[in-house]
Amino acid sequence: MEKIIVKKSSNLHGNIKVDGSKNSILPILAATLLCPEECKIHDIPNLQDVKIMCGLLEALGAKVEKTETNTLKVTAENITTCEAPYELISKMRASFLVMGPLLTRCHNAKVYMPGGCAIGTRPIDLHLKGFKHLGSDIKSENGYVNATTEQLKGRDIYLDFPSVGATENIIMAATLAEGETILENAAEEPEIVDLANFINSMGGNIVGAGTKTIRIKGVKKLHKTEHTVIPDRIEAGTYMVAAAATGGDVMIENVVPSHLQPIIAKLREAGVTIEEYDDKIRVKAGNTIKPVDIKTLPYPGFPTDMQAQFMAMLSKADGTSIINETIFENRFMHVNEMSRMGLHVKVEGSSAILMGNSHLSGAKVRATDLRAGAALIIAGLLADGETEITEVYHIKRGYSNIVKKLQNLGADIRYEK
Ligand code: EPZ
Repeated sequence: MEKIIVKKSSNLHGNIKVDGSKNSILPILAATLLCPEECKIHDIPNLQDVKIMCGLLEALGAKVEKTETNTLKVTAENITTCEAPYELISKMRASFLVMGPLLTRCHNAKVYMPGGCAIGTRPIDLHLKGFKHLGSDIKSENGYVNATTEQLKGRDIYLDFPSVGATENIIMAATLAEGETILENAAEEPEIVDLANFINSMGGNIVGAGTKTIRIKGVKKLHKTEHTVIPDRIEAGTYMVAAAATGGDVMIENVVPSHLQPIIAKLREAGVTIEEYDDKIRVKAGNTIKPVDIKTLPYPGFPTDMQAQFMAMLSKADGTSIINETIFENRFMHVNEMSRMGLHVKVEGSSAILMGNSHLSGAKVRATDLRAGAALIIAGLLADGETEITEVYHIKRGYSNIVKKLQNLGADIRYEK
């Protein structure tokens, strides 16, 4: 089984280029099902999850072509089936994002219920509530969600929680509905804005993405488009933390600084110098890491996808830090793994209390989800001796070429078959 071997590596230095956003390209690929013409999409990251989504689109009848290294052409002229089977949905939870496009374009969708995962049960009640509000009949049977409608009609919908996936699925379903949908308490993540921009570039009519209130005016038909995916703010944040944690000085290229404000603020609070430019950010570590308290929140709050990476860095802070995870009910799976490396931590409910000044030593650990896996790499860069990380397929889902990129910054890291 493939492993990642990491040894202590101080002072990461040099330049690193961030790829297109995983959490943007996945809903955008799903949204190509709304359009019968060619969608050309640039800056596609080379990730396992993208391959899974492309396989699903092809299974539904879309034509998917890789024209250049990071460019895909998707044409969903004829959707040959509106059923997304277990074999495909079970590989990746985000596959459920095809439900909204299928329902609104074909007036029916049969999608296998996505499972939970290591970080939580990951329910879909808010997605289904939105589809019901828009006028679809929902039946759950044999593990499938079966939605049918004569025609979706625009409605006012209030989300009990600003769920990213539910916001995306409802936006896509409302795009071809009759009339206007007003979505309240919507998620405000940059990936929602990128999805809305993509749909509008096809002739959609979405206003307010990136705010809590999004208005979607239904249109009859969409047309061909070309789009470039926004940079991955979580990949960028991960390398920012790796640079800060190892006492490094790294230029992170292809970023949108405004998407990184909560990460920048917390790193500055920890004593890190951050220089912001138009599309890059320089991260210069301070002499020590100051303790900081973190509470994960929906955007523009501190992203839950960054708390594990900060935990690795705060292991060496000169004081106590508290991390409060409010988004997922079980996102401290990495705590056990890091504890075996010597992390001084106490978990009380949804908070992890880090005593700081932990002297980490290399150990055999396993990645429990993609962000925890990235955090274990950072912990390995700080630990004396050698850290062996297994179940690295988790990491490959969200980070293309992470080993090569870190080697280029001077890290002692390699794959081992
Ligand atoms: C997206 O997941 C991201 N994935 C996640 O990134 C990210 O952690 C999450 O948003 C929060 O920012 C993609 O974009 C592909 P949610 P999503 O719906 O849409 C509850 C990564 O590491 N909820 O905003 O599934 C849910 O249980 C991944 O890249 C309901 O209760 O997240 C959770 O507690 C991990 N009912 C909270 O909302 C619902 O119908 C946030 O979930 C839907 C969600």
